[in-house]
Amino acid sequence: MVAFDAGETLAERFRSHMGDAPTVYGYALRGMADDWEAGGATREICAGWEASPTGTMIQLRYLAGIFRIVLRGEAPELAAFYPCLGGSAPAEGVWPVMREVAARHVPELRRALDVVPQTNEPGRSAVLLLGLFEAVRRHGIRRVRLLEIGASAGLNLYADRFRYVGPGWEWGPTDSALLLPTEAPHVRVEAFEIVDRRGCDLDPVDPTTSDGADRLRSFVWPWHVARHERLSAALAVVRVEATAGRAAVVDRAGAGEWLEGQLASRTPSGSADVLTVVWQSVTRMYWPPSEGERVDAVIAAARRQRPLAHITMEHPDEVVDGRVVHAREAQLAVDGDPLGWVHPHGIPVWL
Ligand SMILES: C[S@@+](CC[C@H](N)C(=O)[O-])C[C@H]1O[C@@H](n2cnc3c(N)ncnc32)[C@H](O)[C@@H]1O
Repeated sequence: MVAFDAGETLAERFRSHMGDAPTVYGYALRGMADDWEAGGATREICAGWEASPTGTMIQLRYLAGIFRIVLRGEAPELAAFYPCLGGSAPAEGVWPVMREVAARHVPELRRALDVVPQTNEPGRSAVLLLGLFEAVRRHGIRRVRLLEIGASAGLNLYADRFRYVGPGWEWGPTDSALLLPTEAPHVRVEAFEIVDRRGCDLDPVDPTTSDGADRLRSFVWPWHVARHERLSAALAVVRVEATAGRAAVVDRAGAGEWLEGQLASRTPSGSADVLTVVWQSVTRMYWPPSEGERVDAVIAAARRQRPLAHITMEHPDEVVDGRVVHAREAQLAVDGDPLGWVHPHGIPVWL
């Protein structure tokens, strides 16, 4: 198995990230390693990061910085290697072209190394929605106040604006720009209405700006064409909602503190006939233990005051060879009850 980011020097860390992978980034990473050792532009771009902790993944920040230059249309010769932009040039030719682009943008790429990798996967809405059906069924309340912790750009706060299709079932607006095909069988669809929605993230991304959209796109592998299509469609939905004055707010805050504040306030529409739903996806693994403990305590206290459901799509811990690691797949749970295993990107949902 390839060890991400392992090695003494940056070059070794770059080479270890994707091993011999025949992908655009596989060739790019090996080229970056050679360039760093040869004292090329990569050495200058990465100056000061030589002793950065393993896990900083500056190679991903570097590649995302390059990707943002490509997305702005400033490197069409490199776009030819990015399948998500329609490129089909053979991946093995990417580095000499990328090296020229990097050399022309050294100051920008130095700044790009400060941008922590961050994604927002709207495919996870297909999983969270199944949790929401279950929560509505359990509580028998169909008006929902949705609170998302670790929401990134908040794309999954628009889950009711996406269209879902599975074997024998479909749900959501037929004119949505985002269609999420799922393989989940036997889904019992429930009617509900989201009457209020809001999220938080330590570092929210504004999906209504081109900078925010490019930041999200730049951390998705360029050959993951379906993910890029999903992301573009979700961003189109957000633009429609924002234009109509219905943009979802994502506050800059840690999960526990924010949730405590939100649950201390009454819902705008009262509370007895409103189900408060707290949901989260693939965020807990990034929290310090104290954050998780605070979230759990806040939710336990709030349950005594109002109908509340907690929907999680997270990678649970498991023990492998005596070591605690995050499970490879994600698990959907409602109020701590596991409903099944799901793909980490949500789609395809086979639950
Ligand atoms: C892998 S992303 C997942 C984003 C989104 N939930 C999704 O499924 O697409 C993890 C997110 O958790 C956020 N995060 C990490 N620690 C956090 C914390 N203590 N409180 C709130 N958000 C946090 C990160 O900023 C990042 O946006």
